[in-house]
Amino acid sequence: MSNLYDRIIAKEAKVGVIGLGYVGLPIALAFAKSISVVGFDINEERVEMMRQGQDPSNELEGSDFENSDIEFTADINDLKDVEFFIVAVPTPIDEHNKPDLSPLLGASKGVGKVLKKGDYVVFESTVYPGCTEDDCVPILEGESGLKFVEDFKVGYSPERINPGDKEHTITKILKVVSGCDDESLDVISKVYEIIVEPGVHKASSIKVAEAAKIIENTQRDVNIALMNELSIIFNRIGINTFEVLEAAGTKWNFLRFSPGLVGGHCIGVDPYYLTYKAEELGYHARIINSGRYVNDSMGYYIAKQTVKKILQTGKNIAGSKVLVMGATFKENVSDIRNSKVADVVKELRSFMVDVEVVDPFVDPAELKHEYNIDLTEKPGDYYDAIIVAVNHEPYVKMTEGDFKGMLSDENGIIVDVKGIYRGKFENTRYWSL
Ligand SMILES: NC(=O)c1ccc[n+]([C@@H]2O[C@H](COP(=O)([O-])OP(=O)(O)OC[C@H]3O[C@@H](n4cnc5c(N)ncnc54)[C@H](O)[C@@H]3O)[C@@H](O)[C@H]2O)c1
Repeated sequence: MSNLYDRIIAKEAKVGVIGLGYVGLPIALAFAKSISVVGFDINEERVEMMRQGQDPSNELEGSDFENSDIEFTADINDLKDVEFFIVAVPTPIDEHNKPDLSPLLGASKGVGKVLKKGDYVVFESTVYPGCTEDDCVPILEGESGLKFVEDFKVGYSPERINPGDKEHTITKILKVVSGCDDESLDVISKVYEIIVEPGVHKASSIKVAEAAKIIENTQRDVNIALMNELSIIFNRIGINTFEVLEAAGTKWNFLRFSPGLVGGHCIGVDPYYLTYKAEELGYHARIINSGRYVNDSMGYYIAKQTVKKILQTGKNIAGSKVLVMGATFKENVSDIRNSKVADVVKELRSFMVDVEVVDPFVDPAELKHEYNIDLTEKPGDYYDAIIVAVNHEPYVKMTEGDFKGMLSDENGIIVDVKGIYRGKFENTRYWSL
């Protein structure tokens, strides 16, 4: 077993990546620069795009596919001669904010069918501590008829990449790795060291590595929730949160977080995996759940503040016109998964506001399908309020003059969720978190 690494390096053994999304595809391509890789995904359409050198998630360039020893497939049988499996399928939550393990269990089933004695399986999907050994391993054993540790080894290595971030890419960030025993930890570390320049951190167990990932995102979520709560308080006091943060940020140990909408596939989702596990163990996680509550409510809060600002000018709210700029979950990406901008739109519509949405990064069909929102191609000049929900680069460059031509009259207001125009507008009504 221990010479698996040598055989991988010599291209005598293959690495298989299961789930080729934001995480899986960059990993597969990074490995494929030096070793033989099979990239498997259940979505045939996506597989076909990757065969043509296109990233369905719009993160990688055509050139990233060049000089790669990789076979893309949607046929599980093509994984039969793979000996080192990496699983990077989604781990979403359901409508009750409970972990939806179906993609992960489905992938485990698929790998179990082709698993052989001596093989390795490393999970990268974000999960609660215990999920790999308690939920995935029994499926691998059941499907393969093999025994965990004795016949095949398992590890967990969380992913830290960040959509839209061209600096912290897979090969540039230190990676946490773990294994089911010393031997597997050694092999898994060496395999990841092929691609990860800063090297690996060897966690003491699979559960520790799982927990490390989940708290990275939980810590971020809770801190942003604190900023959001502060912004609600400061709004009542009548001071600007970003000004307060700027002042407080001059202290050496003040943590730099800012208020805003928390969406996407990770920060707004992962803490629910931890609270689910805590609940299962008889503990109701108060701080984490409160953070989730505050962050999940921000879309509605921003909409209500906008409604108030329109009403304050004596206008009728029903039939008033609001433009929402930005629909993605963060800046400069096309990803609309779990975007809280949809909450802003929903809440405004509940007040009978006529809402339009623009976003240069978003695929209109996807937005329609996901949230039943029609993307407006070109903004008009009749808005009572404009909510800049996402700090996309083209929006950051906009000036007061650009907005003036879009507002209906001098009572029109700019709602600047991320505080990007703070101090830049002189003659326009302005509000930020
Ligand atoms: N997106 C990120 O920046 C990021 C960062 C760190 C960790 N993560 C974690 O990594 C995991 C993957 O996230 P992602 O953003 O890459 O997801 P994604 O939605 O971009 O991609 C997942 C891919 O897996 C495929 N898939 C689904 N079920 C499958 C199955 N049973 N077998 C094979 N393929 C299957 C899908 O077709 C899709 O192509 C999640 O657990 C996520 O929390 C994501």
